Amino acid sequence: MGSPRRLRMKRVKTGVEPLDFLLPEGVPLNSFITLSGEGGTGKSVILQQLAISFLKRGFSVIYVASDDSPLSIMLNMKNFGWHVDRYGKRGRFRFVDCFSFRIKRSLEYPEYVTVVEQPSFLRNITDVLDSVMDKLRGRKVMLIDSLTDIISHAEPMTAIETVKAWRANYTKAQNTLVFTSFHFGIKAFDEIEQIIDYIVDGIIDLRFDPYLMQQGVLVKQMRIRKMKGTSHLTKWVYFQITKDGLKLIDKATVMKLVS
Ligand SMILES: Nc1ncnc2c1ncn2[C@@H]1O[C@H](COP(=O)(O)OP(=O)(O)O)[C@@H](O)[C@H]1O
Ligand SMILES: [Mg+2]
Repeated sequence: MGSPRRLRMKRVKTGVEPLDFLLPEGVPLNSFITLSGEGGTGKSVILQQLAISFLKRGFSVIYVASDDSPLSIMLNMKNFGWHVDRYGKRGRFRFVDCFSFRIKRSLEYPEYVTVVEQPSFLRNITDVLDSVMDKLRGRKVMLIDSLTDIISHAEPMTAIETVKAWRANYTKAQNTLVFTSFHFGIKAFDEIEQIIDYIVDGIIDLRFDPYLMQQGVLVKQMRIRKMKGTSHLTKWVYFQITKDGLKLIDKATVMKLVS
């Protein structure tokens, strides 16, 4: 049996302002968390901010990219002043690239990018993840953008079993915090969505304020729908994406955006 010390729940701050506000005690390290919301609500920017925030605090980070190429992700991050290249060169940051298999000409990527051939066979992604996990030292965070794209090519049961296996092996057995973006809402995937919601430890909902959207104004909001092992606020809060990343905004500021 493990000692009581080993059983103590370790929690960490995310370094993303609205998330830390909603999760005053932090997130448990052994969590598999989804960021759920439609396009443009900020899922990718959040994952990018999580990457730099954990790298700065000494974690190793694996970024699984399927919606965009590693180079465009790094360019986007550079806009915010988030430079991951230096961490890649030091062996603390790795891209698992599930995007570039489509590109026909040969690419010159830095050594911290591993391109997955035929990622529609989820086994191929798992094999790369296993070897990258082995190479990285210390406490680890895995960011997956997007889980929807990655599992949408597989049979539903294979997809579900793969998510369960990643959560069991990486999150639980190796204590790796996992954040994934998730954007179903397509009818064919209704059932998968419900099962994933049930499997994961945490769900962060993102949306545009529905009332303001009716007036033609898009203001981003987030809330915690589910987070095992810690207390959290349950209300929707407003946030903006600024050059320094996500910032909470108050009602008065929202009103100024509307007027
Ligand atoms: N450099 C930036 N400065 C300000 N806002 C940005 C910047 N980059 C992205 N955004 C905002 O984030 C939105 C896209 O967010 P993104 O994370 O790509 O959404 P999702 O991944 O949920 O589709 C943009 O429409 C814009 O509002
Ligand atoms: Mg995105």
